[in-house]
Amino acid sequence: MQSLFPASPSMLSDDDLAELYAYPVDRRWVRANFVTTLDGAAQGSDGKAGSLSSAADQQVFALLRSLCDVVLVGANTTRVEGYQPVAASEVDTDLRSRLGLAIVPALAVVSRSLDVDPGLLAGGSAPTIVVTTESAPGDLRAHAEETAPVIVAGEHDVDFGLALDSLIGHGYQRILCEGGPSLMRDLVASGQLDELCLTLTPRVLGGDRLHLTHGNPIEPAVPLRLRHLLESDGELFCRYTTT
Ligand SMILES: NC(=O)c1ccc[n+]([C@@H]2O[C@H](COP(=O)([O-])OP(=O)(O)OC[C@H]3O[C@@H](n4cnc5c(N)ncnc54)[C@H](OP(=O)(O)O)[C@@H]3O)[C@@H](O)[C@H]2O)c1
Repeated sequence: MQSLFPASPSMLSDDDLAELYAYPVDRRWVRANFVTTLDGAAQGSDGKAGSLSSAADQQVFALLRSLCDVVLVGANTTRVEGYQPVAASEVDTDLRSRLGLAIVPALAVVSRSLDVDPGLLAGGSAPTIVVTTESAPGDLRAHAEETAPVIVAGEHDVDFGLALDSLIGHGYQRILCEGGPSLMRDLVASGQLDELCLTLTPRVLGGDRLHLTHGNPIEPAVPLRLRHLLESDGELFCRYTTT
């Protein structure tokens, strides 16, 4: 992988990549990571994101997981992609140890319906946290509370300002949002997103597929600033920030 912006003549090492994606120190930071085709599809022909991902994208995906305290994810993505708690084999445990992070990141699943897989709710080496609303079904909320920390933030829609404050209260300040598009739309609209890591895979897929955000228009549009642009075999890795 090489850096096109800022331009660099040499190939990037694993340590260079870890430095390029380092979280800011001593402040909460909300990063999102997405992959899309050149025509903006966030789902492959099987309806999943994994089929859009290359080996280089998997490397960045694993690195971003290795750097965060918690993975924030929409319940539908956990259902479609069959999410399980993050395993130690999926992250760079040496890097996490050097950074003073827990062995694996926690998961925080955002859901109104509380239709969350029991295996996911049970957590693994780190807990699964449920982020939900006052309007969630009371019996399912009580059931979730038996096994997982539950954050209730907002009446019908999760209030991301409150939810993120609460995650920080649980000790998680390096936050990685892995989507999907509905969660991403609401997170961006809430003004809480700090950074977008977007992989552009050099393919055109066509069809009627979800893209980076899904839902109501975001007004005014949120401007982002390019911080770096990496390239590997024609695939682009863009890092944008909102400030
Ligand atoms: N290309 C990529 O990088 C990428 C990344 C992630 C996912 N995807 C793909 O995207 C698709 C899924 O996207 P999606 O938009 O349907 O799902 P999603 O954003 O993962 O999940 C939507 C669900 O999350 C909950 N939710 C989201 N925002 C909420 C809010 N403000 N308040 C309360 N609950 C909220 C609700 O859960 P309940 O339904 O439980 O109430 C909602 O139905 C899949 O095909 C997946 O493969 C692609």
